[in-house]
Amino acid sequence: MTLPTFETRRLLLRPIEESDAQGLHAAFGDTEAMRFWDSLPSVDLAETASRIRQTLAVEQRWHGMWAIMARSGGFAGMINYHAVDPRNRRLALGWIVVPAFRHQGLMTEAAQIVLHHCFAAMEMHRIEALIEPENTASRGLAVKLGFTQESDAMRDRLLVDGQYRPLLMYGLLQSDWAA
Ligand SMILES: CC(C)(COP(=O)(O)OP(=O)(O)OC[C@H]1O[C@@H](n2cnc3c(N)ncnc32)[C@H](O)[C@@H]1OP(=O)(O)O)[C@@H](O)C(=O)NCCC(=O)NCCS
Repeated sequence: MTLPTFETRRLLLRPIEESDAQGLHAAFGDTEAMRFWDSLPSVDLAETASRIRQTLAVEQRWHGMWAIMARSGGFAGMINYHAVDPRNRRLALGWIVVPAFRHQGLMTEAAQIVLHHCFAAMEMHRIEALIEPENTASRGLAVKLGFTQESDAMRDRLLVDGQYRPLLMYGLLQSDWAA
């Protein structure tokens, strides 16, 4: 299965390529954008390129990453699925928008088409997002997409740069989505 390409009103989503490193680095290299990521920002463009290569090395049934391109021009961000659990028909999403493109409704637009793909084409039953309590933008996005916050903070769920961090579990069922 190859990752499909999608067009939305303002965006083109296509499988990420190593040549997207420069675009993605505007997000992965940005300390503020990476504040709540599960790893530190890339130190340089080469590290972002290496992250893309690592993604491309994983079979798409386990991990898929789309480059989000603004139809008006420019690399706007990326969205991925990971932690695919076929037996329980669930996966998790990750999302990041380049600072200049933030809070314009673009990830809402991108995630809606990816959610549709995960439920309809990949036949998932449940989609998860694990979000730090202080990440108000990501929590707001999840709620806007229809996710339910299902837990209090799970303590010390992440270890980044020697520091443990809490996470909240958000979940979206296929039936929530259909409704
Ligand atoms: C989370 C993120 C992907 C949202 O993308 P976006 O394209 O800016 O989001 P949207 O414009 O579609 O906004 C959707 C909702 O998210 C919330 N939101 C987005 N940006 C926000 C901000 N700066 N402050 C508060 N809430 C915000 C709002 O609830 C918004 O709904 P509204 O427009 O009706 O207010 C983006 O903020 C980002 O890249 N953050 C850094 C990376 C990150 O933390 N990723 C998630 C790790 S779990």
